[in-house]
Amino acid sequence: MDSPRISLQNSRVMLTGASGGLGAAIARELSRRGADLVLTARRRELLVDLAGRTGGEVLVADLADRLDVDRLIEDSLGCDVLVLNAGIGNDGPLEDVSADSVDLVLDVNLRSPIQMAIAFAQHHLAEGTPAAIVTVGSVAGIVATPNTRLYNATKFGLRGFTLSLHQDLLGTPVSASLVAPGFIRDAGMFADNDIELPPGVRTKSPQDVADAVVRAIEEAPAEVFAAPPELRAVAKLSALVPGVSARLQRSLGVAERTAER
Ligand SMILES: NC(=O)c1ccc[n+]([C@@H]2O[C@H](COP(=O)([O-])OP(=O)(O)OC[C@H]3O[C@@H](n4cnc5c(N)ncnc54)[C@H](OP(=O)(O)O)[C@@H]3O)[C@@H](O)[C@H]2O)c1
Repeated sequence: MDSPRISLQNSRVMLTGASGGLGAAIARELSRRGADLVLTARRRELLVDLAGRTGGEVLVADLADRLDVDRLIEDSLGCDVLVLNAGIGNDGPLEDVSADSVDLVLDVNLRSPIQMAIAFAQHHLAEGTPAAIVTVGSVAGIVATPNTRLYNATKFGLRGFTLSLHQDLLGTPVSASLVAPGFIRDAGMFADNDIELPPGVRTKSPQDVADAVVRAIEEAPAEVFAAPPELRAVAKLSALVPGVSARLQRSLGVAERTAER
């Protein structure tokens, strides 16, 4: 049995990372499709400003704070859709990484979405109510680059978690899907870092990510990419031959480009 489809019209959606570049685009698209939003992140002013345009409730929460995560879980249970989009990007030079920075990235990028998704799925399975979970991973969940070890670790982990949960939920009223953006122009962590891409590498827009999130909610595939086909192909090949990928990236000066962040 396929999972029942969720209609965004009049559905209630909790969106983490709503104050960020991609969060704003996702919120706008979900609102345009008639969803009632619960917007969450740490920066209240940005959330209030966004809610002024999209409507919806603002919940300030720090995903590195376990009490805040417990509170968010309580609030998420009244929602039909959970979009786990918050994330921390680059981790910079190896010598700057500390135990605290490891904890922070693991908490925000991996622990909190796992905990929230599991509680949300358990609740809706027990109630027998249709619901959709979308996690926002990355092509960095398939291919590793230099200077992004914690980001790669958490995005690889989030991909594995979501693809397994997707299988657990097949044939139930609840779905879980991963959205995997590539390099996104104009807004968000990649655009903010102003990194120069190697020649020929194409980008996608924040709207492409928002469209991928809508598809994930409505069609419940295992994984939706918001990345050009050639980048997806290179990422999948790189996953098969990581040593070749490392040499290719070295010849393209990727370490120098990512160290500039
Ligand atoms: N932009 C890209 O090219 C790209 C590519 C692939 C994947 N992605 C993924 O897309 C997602 C959104 O990224 P983005 O580009 O929109 O990045 P962004 O503009 O930097 O936004 C990151 C969001 O995460 C939230 N966040 C960070 N730390 C948090 C914490 N401790 N507690 C609660 N919220 C926290 C931020 O909110 P506050 O600071 O207000 O708390 C913000 O809303 C991320 O998962 C990212 O990995 C992005």
